[in-house]
Amino acid sequence: MQTTLIFLKPDAVQRGLMGKILQRFEEKGLSFVGMKLVQVSEDLAKQHYAEHAERPFFPGLLKFITSSPVLACAIQGPNAVAVCRTLIGATNGQKADPGTIRGDLGMSGANNLVHGSDSPESAERELALWFTEGELTGFIKTANQWIYDPSDLD
Ligand code: RTP
Ligand code: MG
Repeated sequence: MQTTLIFLKPDAVQRGLMGKILQRFEEKGLSFVGMKLVQVSEDLAKQHYAEHAERPFFPGLLKFITSSPVLACAIQGPNAVAVCRTLIGATNGQKADPGTIRGDLGMSGANNLVHGSDSPESAERELALWFTEGELTGFIKTANQWIYDPSDLD
């Protein structure tokens, strides 16, 4: 089992797409183990996107992410990091495959609706940045017995 950090970016919240995007992850069979609306501080934005600090788009990215609340989610499932990245699609909505969230709902390489951790190590770092331990529930969805075969969870 892995847990990954997903957040619905300001464009998703402002465009009224939260329900639709959450449904993608939920219908897939993943479990939400934490969720909260966050007005991102400059400090959190800088820490979260530290790897991009030297990129030309960094100032614009900070402005975008702090411009309006985001919906932060901790999502759990086998291979959750990779499964969520596949559901989200390529960075630029114009190039993302149809069927992915960005491919179906977006046209931008910057306002691209949703963030997903890009590795198990990033997920661990980002979850610690965004959630306290007490904000993450340890519940197991009873529907998992219908979503997964035991061999899926090895
Ligand atoms: P994310 O980290 O948000 O899940 O997105 P990603 O892995 O697909 O893309 P990444 O390369 O990590 O870029 C982080 C975010 O920076 C913004 N960006 N803007 N204007 C630009 O050229 C540009 N390039 C990247 C996007 O919001 C991107 O998701
Ligand atoms: Mg990234």
